[in-house]
Amino acid sequence: MSQLDIRRPVKVAIIGSGNVGATFAYALLLSGLATEIILIDSNQYRAEGEMMDLNHAVPLTKPARIMVGSYADLSGAAVVVITAGSAQKPGETRLELVARNAQIFKTIIPEIVRYNPDGILLIATNPVDILSYIAWKISGLPSQRVIGSGTILDTARFRALLSQFYGVDARSVHAYIIGEHGDSEVPVWSLANIAGMRLSVYCANNGMECRDQDLETIFHQVRDAAYEIIKRKGSTYYAISAGLVRIVEAILRDQGTILTISNYIEDFCDVNDVYLSLPCIIDRDGVERIIRLELNEAEKAGFKKSAEVIQKITRELGY
Ligand SMILES: NC(=O)c1ccc[n+]([C@@H]2O[C@H](COP(=O)([O-])OP(=O)(O)OC[C@H]3O[C@@H](n4cnc5c(N)ncnc54)[C@H](O)[C@@H]3O)[C@@H](O)[C@H]2O)c1
Repeated sequence: MSQLDIRRPVKVAIIGSGNVGATFAYALLLSGLATEIILIDSNQYRAEGEMMDLNHAVPLTKPARIMVGSYADLSGAAVVVITAGSAQKPGETRLELVARNAQIFKTIIPEIVRYNPDGILLIATNPVDILSYIAWKISGLPSQRVIGSGTILDTARFRALLSQFYGVDARSVHAYIIGEHGDSEVPVWSLANIAGMRLSVYCANNGMECRDQDLETIFHQVRDAAYEIIKRKGSTYYAISAGLVRIVEAILRDQGTILTISNYIEDFCDVNDVYLSLPCIIDRDGVERIIRLELNEAEKAGFKKSAEVIQKITRELGY
């Protein structure tokens, strides 16, 4: 059980205050959800700069104490968000990158759990499904309290692009990306809907064309979005930060919100013992329940393929 006590300040800690960590801290400050935001980074000087800049925004935004801390300061944090890690270096394989970030997790996860055994771990570092599984293994915490941001971002991208295509508010588009946060992710077309109508029915009822090739293009833009953004500006951080705030909000406010996040999957589509994304109910205890979607055969096969991709690399790392 996470310990949310109204007599204590609502503390959220961020490990890694680079582009994602600092942007998340800013979005969290604007949300007013946290009373204390702790920044930890191996580059403490950089973290101090972020802390100063963020604190100067406090009089103009919401009251909060933003501090650079040590692992001991994680005590009592409701959520610890991990964005620490390195990006791919030129010539480096994906597996080499994973190995480097897994090594970072080997040092930081025991420290987090030592000082904060009761909080919820929220992981954004990539490859997020593999690192969430490793964090779960190393931490010894129940999987309910080890959450990967998973496809919350991909689902947001999917809804944003469908919203533009159909000309309705993205919040009125219900559609999920599941599986890996990455190349093998799966769009769940069979359940995608607007106003409770399957997309093809919605189109027929509203005089719109609904061609398979348009939908295929939308999915490719979702799947390849990170590559396109990184090509143009080096990294992505706004939408993932908004996604992290949304998860933290569902936890701190005990909302029972359904979000696609990465969690421990057992006995779903012949998939076992892996972290992948499905829609999950998120509340103050973390993952209250994983929603077992009724998928069609192609979607089931896609989910299984995601599991194979992720498990292969995870096993190669020795987990
Ligand atoms: N899950 C998602 O949807 C998503 C989206 C965007 C980025 N990301 C991932 O988030 C991670 C961070 O991206 P970024 O753009 O912020 O990178 P960045 O390089 O700007 O920041 C990473 C930070 O981690 C710190 N760090 C490294 N090792 C550390 C350690 N042992 N302890 C504490 N801090 C440490 C670095 O000093 C740096 O400040 C990457 O893995 C990236 O791929 C995930």
